[in-house]
Amino acid sequence: MADTGAPLWGGRFDAALHPAIHEFTGSLHFDRRMVRHDLIACLAHARMLRERRILSENEASAILVGLSEILREIENGTLAVVGDEEDVHSWIERTLAERIGDDAKRLHTGRSRNDQAIIALRLYVRERLEDILSGVAGLQRVLLETAAEHRETFLPGYTHLQRGQPVSLAHHLLAHVAALSQDVERLQSAHAAAGTSPLGAGALAGSSFPLDPERSTALLGLDATFTNSMHAVADRDYVLDAAYACAVLMVHVSRWADEVVLWATKEFGFIRLDDSISQGSSLMPQKKNPEAAELLRGKSARTIGNVTGLLALLKGLPLTYNSDFQEDKEPLFDSLDTADWSAAAAIAIARGLHYRTDVMAAALEGGMLTATELADHLVRQGVPFRTAHEQSGLAVRAAEDEGVELWELSMDSLRAVCPSVAEGVLDELRPAQAVASHDSPGGPAPVRVAEQQAAAESHLTALESWLEGRSPAPIYAAHAEDGLLDDTIPAGEPG
Ligand code: ARG
Repeated sequence: MADTGAPLWGGRFDAALHPAIHEFTGSLHFDRRMVRHDLIACLAHARMLRERRILSENEASAILVGLSEILREIENGTLAVVGDEEDVHSWIERTLAERIGDDAKRLHTGRSRNDQAIIALRLYVRERLEDILSGVAGLQRVLLETAAEHRETFLPGYTHLQRGQPVSLAHHLLAHVAALSQDVERLQSAHAAAGTSPLGAGALAGSSFPLDPERSTALLGLDATFTNSMHAVADRDYVLDAAYACAVLMVHVSRWADEVVLWATKEFGFIRLDDSISQGSSLMPQKKNPEAAELLRGKSARTIGNVTGLLALLKGLPLTYNSDFQEDKEPLFDSLDTADWSAAAAIAIARGLHYRTDVMAAALEGGMLTATELADHLVRQGVPFRTAHEQSGLAVRAAEDEGVELWELSMDSLRAVCPSVAEGVLDELRPAQAVASHDSPGGPAPVRVAEQQAAAESHLTALESWLEGRSPAPIYAAHAEDGLLDDTIPAGEPG
């Protein structure tokens, strides 16, 4: 067993594996990123075996000491996961055998690589979702801070990419914050979905040893224990949930990024990109390209493809474990990486945007954006809405003919087409006033925006304390008591 690369299942085989098949079926090059998570789960399993007296004190201690040593070296970067093993699970067993000898062979009692691989992946997914959630929190924080400065900055709101009605920049930014809040819920629910432990399910049929799966669950700080051993090894819903949550997040980020690209054009001009977030052209010296924002938009595509690929992978698979499952990791890792890196880039981009409030103000002119206000004013004077809409349209035409804004029409010109208008109507047609009057719940009026800010702020604070409240799994404290592990070990990116 100590031979590098010797498989875990040699007994009934005469011939060595064909090199092409070994290479083809191996997953070490991508599943080694779960080494730390697998080691933690091994520790929980070994401790449970000791508590249940399935392993003796001595056997279990040797295993726990060996695993802790490997974990510590992985954490501090003195040990790298390299070798000819078929996967990270085999690598751990071989490395442990090199250090403690035959006792290493007892670790796999009451366990299969099927439940082992799943627990490692579940722990890994939870950690990465936490990283992504803290990225989303960071992005929301920047957008909220910017919104706070712009409750009285007005610009057109668009439908069909045509100027529609005036809104405040704060209201506009809070729309993105609201989308991200939905991502937070989705990511947290994917996090919860990954929190069921499969340990004790074995290959598919549990075990004849007196295992205590609830104990492994508790040691790992997970929320729930599997209820059906076959489902435990066949279930990949948590993979789908995580990939989907990442994809929707990326779709939201891409829509925001597209706005950055659009607003940075000369044609729009609502923002100026800081030099730190824009790139030049190799040929056209004048260019300043929003390449990072374009890439955010572009990178969303792969996360969508990953969800589709994962669904296709799982469709029609028979119970229980199938090697096809090995293919779930690369697309999932890609989605987690993409969401994580994108959130960090999005934060940098959001911080590097200079909003050009003068250009936004200018965009409110010439488009008759308050024609709806005029119609609503007429309705308040008793005119049926359909008639008011018609009369307001005539006023728009009059203003266009005279080359003035709606609020610059004379009362005489206005009365000629809208006979019911009351005094003071012209002020109501000014953009700032129009925004202030839209004080229906969730609307752009500063008083409503203040409410949205408060709600978004408390949602974000709840997320921030959820993230801070994530403590190391109880296994660390249990092992610290034995002097095996330091519970201050940082949870960094594994080797
Ligand atoms: N490399 C496998 C995976 O990624 C680990 C589980 C293997 N189990 C087995 N019976 N071959 O899913």
